[in-house]
Amino acid sequence: MTLSLPASRTPDRDDAPPIRWGVLAPGGIARDWTAAVHATTASRVVAVGSRAQDRAQAFADEFGVDRAYGSYEQLVGDDGIDAVYVASPHSEHRDHALLALAAGKPVLVEKAFTRNAAEAAAVIDAARAANLLVVEAMWTRFLPHLDVVRQCLENGLLGEVKAVIADHGQHLYPDGPQRMSDPALAGGALLDLGIYPVSFAHLALGGFDRVQAFGTIATTGVDEGETIGVVSASGAVGTLSTTMAAHSACLASVIGTEARVDVDSWFYRPNTVRLFDGDDVELDRYEPPARTHGLAYQAAEFARLLADGRTESDLMPLDETLRIMQVLDEVRAQLGVRYPGEPG
Ligand SMILES: NC(=O)c1ccc[n+]([C@@H]2O[C@H](COP(=O)([O-])OP(=O)(O)OC[C@H]3O[C@@H](n4cnc5c(N)ncnc54)[C@H](OP(=O)(O)O)[C@@H]3O)[C@@H](O)[C@H]2O)c1
Repeated sequence: MTLSLPASRTPDRDDAPPIRWGVLAPGGIARDWTAAVHATTASRVVAVGSRAQDRAQAFADEFGVDRAYGSYEQLVGDDGIDAVYVASPHSEHRDHALLALAAGKPVLVEKAFTRNAAEAAAVIDAARAANLLVVEAMWTRFLPHLDVVRQCLENGLLGEVKAVIADHGQHLYPDGPQRMSDPALAGGALLDLGIYPVSFAHLALGGFDRVQAFGTIATTGVDEGETIGVVSASGAVGTLSTTMAAHSACLASVIGTEARVDVDSWFYRPNTVRLFDGDDVELDRYEPPARTHGLAYQAAEFARLLADGRTESDLMPLDETLRIMQVLDEVRAQLGVRYPGEPG
């Protein structure tokens, strides 16, 4: 029997119930995310908070947002929002997520969830204590093509998974944004870019038993790039790489004894999934319903979870978010990268 790919189970973005979002930190990704939410979902950003009133107002004017606040405290205190989207640099995620939770607001927290696992645990504990929804905004997990890959794993379509290969390189250093190179903002390739191949392989292999990293340190002290070798409990291997100093193909493959799936470049965006047999013959191909505004899928999933009274997502469970942060901690420890204030 010829193998074929399953249909994606991901619901349409515009079918999700409408919720009222507050955006915390109106930077680059907050702009892309808001444009995606407004273009493809029934939800609306109704409030925005910045450290500066003029930046909040400029964002509000650009996106038709009702209320602009010159502090994050004012934003999370807005009774007219259902949830907060934390879009600040990694170094600030813990405090900003805790701020929202303390105000009784569910939170979607940009990746990397926090600087390290200890900070992630603090947010997860606070969310569970308050019984509030928290989700890591690892947007790839919520995309239709990733659900096709997920089902291949669940259904054993590939046979026994033996290997994963994934890479993510973008040319964002040394001439890119400061948050990439600044240790105080928890910069570096790993937390910004490497987390995508790590998260992909973590899903494909069901976690790692062993992690070994080799890398290069930037002049500022953060990681410029690394290759990470992982081995799962079953003995499957993963080869993951990232760099912030050059643009790479950004491909991903899951390789089983019966077949393999390749995700086209860039694997972490809505993209094509190809199924190959052991003779490298393409057996089937999945094309996503849309390639733009992919950031909205996580917002739609969040809205569905909120409407259903859920406190976490099965697609990106909090315990897995924590385990992935532990992997990132291990990689940084092996490379000797420590952020200011982290224990030695
Ligand atoms: N999903 C994706 O595809 C994707 C893509 C890019 C980035 N990201 C993630 O999104 C987050 C933000 O990245 P970005 O590219 O949007 O960054 P950005 O353009 O620098 O925006 C971050 C915003 O955070 C606020 N902020 C709060 N504390 C800050 C501090 N100490 N230093 C600097 N800014 C601070 C600033 O807004 P105010 O001062 O106005 O409040 C700033 O505009 C990161 O977690 C990153 O990994 C995700």
